[in-house]
Amino acid sequence: MANITFSSPVMAKDVTVYAVAGDRGTILAVAKAHKIPIPFDCQDGECGSCLVQVEHFNPKAKSAVALTEKEKEVLRQLGKITKDEIANAEVNDIPPRYRLACQTFVRNEDILVRFEGDKTQP
Ligand code: FES
Repeated sequence: MANITFSSPVMAKDVTVYAVAGDRGTILAVAKAHKIPIPFDCQDGECGSCLVQVEHFNPKAKSAVALTEKEKEVLRQLGKITKDEIANAEVNDIPPRYRLACQTFVRNEDILVRFEGDKTQP
């Protein structure tokens, strides 16, 4: 069981949802299932619309980061990942601060997901 807390200036309050262990959904899929308004477009790791900041409540938990080349490249283009963070993810399995919600699979750990959201939407 994983608790995923979503936090954004576009939401009245933080929302925590429970993702069942073994659920291979992405953060974006979980968000959509719970009507959390994370912006998205391509859903294929190419546009960067679904950028989120992910905090792991247990920083010691190694989490098999699984950054794809595509996700790395988009995060790099957005200026949201450093060379050190890429190396740490690849070598030490330390997750970077920012991820693409459509590319990040929910694991059996508690996380906080922050996103800016589209302030023009209600
Ligand atoms: Fe385009 Fe995630 S929706 S990168």
